[in-house]
Parts: sequence; structure tokens; C-alpha cells
Amino acid sequence: MSSAVSAEANGDGKIASVRDVYKSFGSFQVMNGLSLDFKPGAITTILGPSGTGKSVLLKHMVGLLEPDAGMVSVFGKDIWRIEERERAKLRKRFGVLFQDGALFGSMNVYDNVAFPLRKHTEMPEKDVGEIVTYRLKEVGLEAAWKKFPSEISGGMKKRAGFARALVLNPEIVLFDEPDSGLDPVRTSLLNDVILKIHSEDRGTYVVVTHDIRTARKVSDYVGLIWQGRVVYYGPAAEAFASDDPFVRQFLAGDSVGPLGMD
Ligand SMILES: Nc1ncnc2c1ncn2[C@@H]1O[C@H](COP(=O)(O)OP(=O)(O)OP(=O)(O)O)[C@@H](O)[C@H]1O
Ligand SMILES: [Mg+2]
Repeated sequence: MSSAVSAEANGDGKIASVRDVYKSFGSFQVMNGLSLDFKPGAITTILGPSGTGKSVLLKHMVGLLEPDAGMVSVFGKDIWRIEERERAKLRKRFGVLFQDGALFGSMNVYDNVAFPLRKHTEMPEKDVGEIVTYRLKEVGLEAAWKKFPSEISGGMKKRAGFARALVLNPEIVLFDEPDSGLDPVRTSLLNDVILKIHSEDRGTYVVVTHDIRTARKVSDYVGLIWQGRVVYYGPAAEAFASDDPFVRQFLAGDSVGPLGMD
């Protein structure tokens, strides 16, 4: 590799950084110069109205979508200036919890959680079993290991998805609305699990949510996205005390303010 290429491939040295990213689907512009540096070891929540590009942002971070312009760097690498093979390796350092848990319906909870280990490592089954049991215990699903996704509740599916996202010891964990479809008590329990595991594993967590209570409970930092840009970013305590009109409107759930329907 020439030195010019390796300097470019170096990204900016941060664990996860999105710089001036533009992305459109057809004529529809979703990302509009979005920039955000994620603080290593912290939980950053991403708030924003529906359709504003939050899930698209997560897909860019994990290298499932390529920006039209701008840079996405993870683990110090500009992920679109490296080869697909290397990008695939970087993906394994992420844990992703999709909106619906995305469990395989044909596998029980145990096999779902074991899946990444069996797919990406040569680990003997005994070691797989130890890790799976440890993670299932951590999310409170030890007793449900034999059940199939159709036999468990929404909250349990989320927790199983979380356990699966953790088995490869990811340095970055992305949560796309971990609380969607959960009642307030289950949301709160799931948030407790997120906080407990974060305090042990100390990963860099990005949590997309609509739920202000989730944001209040788990955030170290808060980013507010609107129309494909970050319109506010700051430490959680500042965000929740902020006079910023975008933040005030979103936190208050107000129809009047700078956040419009378009
Ligand atoms: N692969 C795709 N092809 C075409 N359009 C897409 C694609 N992915 C996302 N979009 C569009 O981009 C916009 C942003 O989508 P995104 O899923 O990021 O929204 P979001 O902020 O996560 O919303 P929600 O809070 O409802 O989950 C939407 O209008 C969506 O229809
Ligand atoms: Mg979404």
C-alpha cells in the first residue's frame, strides 16, 4: 500500500466518526452533511423524528451503506478506503441490535445467541456454550434458552438480540430503538440491563430511541438529528437542561417549533 493511500485509510484515529456525510436514495436526500464523533466508552443516544435518517446513520457506521460524499471512520479506518475483506473484519467488532431483535425464527434462543460464534470463530462447542450461558444469564434469559422466538415476549426478544450482539465482545454496540414496542416497565428493565452490561464491558454504545425516558436513563451524550443533520449534540446533563429550541421541542413533544413534519 502506498503511503498516500495508507494515510487516507487511517481515518482520523477516532473509534467512530462520521464526517460531513451525504446520502440520497433516488432524488430523496436523507443524510445532509451529517457529522458526529462518538465518544469512546460512552453511551450516546441519538434522538430525532421518524424518517430523519437515524437507522441510515447506523447502517453507515457498520458499513452496510456507502455515503455519496463524506467519511465514515471506525477504529481509526476510513471504512470506504479499505477493501471489503477488511471492512468485513471491522464489522465483527460491532454488535448490532436491530429494531425487532432480528432473531432467526427457526432457531431457539440458545442457537440464536450462539450463531455469531459458530459463524465467525472456530471455537469448540464447549467454549461457545460457556459464552452463550454467560450472556443469557446477563440478560436474564437463562431459563428461556430452549424457547423459540415465537414463544417469547417482545422484551425477551430484545434481550436475546442484545445477548447475541454481545457474544463476540464488540467494542461498539449499536441499538436501533431497543425500546420500541415495549411497555414502560420492560423498557426500564432493558435499560437497566444496558447500563449494567455497559458498566462491565465499557464499550462505545450508540442508542437510537424515541423514548425520552430511555435517553434520560442511559445517555452520557445526546445527539439530535433532523433532516439528515445533527442539530444538537452535547453531554446528557446539558442536553436535558438546554434552551436549544430543537431540543426543547423534541423533549417536550411539542408540535410548535423548528422541527417540522417535512
Ligand atoms: N435503502 C433505502 N432505500 C430507499 N430509501 C431509504 C432506504 N433506507 C432508508 N430510506 C429512507 O430514508 C429516510 C430515513 O430513513 P431511516 O430509516 O434512517 O429513518 P429513521 O430516522 O430511522 O426513522 P424511524 O424513527 O421511523 O425509524 C426514510 O424516508 C426512508 O424511507
Ligand atoms: Mg429507524
